[in-house]
Amino acid sequence: MTTANPATVTAPPTTARLRSLVAEIRETVNRGLPPEPTAYMVAERLLPHLGRTDLLTDAQCEGDPGNYRQHVLHAERDGSFSVVALVWLPGQRTPVHDHVSWCVTGVHRGEEHERRYRLVPHGPTARLVATGDVVNPAGTVAAFAPPGDIHLVSNSGTEPALSLHVYGADIARLGTSIRRVYDLPADR
Ligand SMILES: [Fe+2]
Repeated sequence: MTTANPATVTAPPTTARLRSLVAEIRETVNRGLPPEPTAYMVAERLLPHLGRTDLLTDAQCEGDPGNYRQHVLHAERDGSFSVVALVWLPGQRTPVHDHVSWCVTGVHRGEEHERRYRLVPHGPTARLVATGDVVNPAGTVAAFAPPGDIHLVSNSGTEPALSLHVYGADIARLGTSIRRVYDLPADR
């Protein structure tokens, strides 16, 4: 079953590497640049940490058979950014959604499949048109900022997938980075 909100657990940063990553993100966010350059610079900071075995604890990598799982790794005290790990077991997926803030994703393990959409007028309402399919393998990063960030993420592979996400929002307070779920007709 796919629901808007992933199963969420909160885990403190318990590795030296994660604490170092959080400090690097803080330094970047505190420059006070606009959302897009902030996201690009955070992505550069995240990249060298991906795939490193000392980044996360085993508990922070655990999935949930019922839904994709979100581990909140860090929520900055002033609400300016959050770091989460998302774990997709094979076959799990998000709904079609967009985000409350700028977002950086980095695949730590496995492979994520992403389908991007554009919202187009359709009579009194709207429909979704798929604009592209992207496969994000381990060791890759992506950065984006709303609007125009409607997508669906899935694990179509046979192994668990885990990615790190950094959001310019307080996910511990909001519970999720999802701004809106699009339950609309789509061409695919
Ligand atoms: Fe997303």
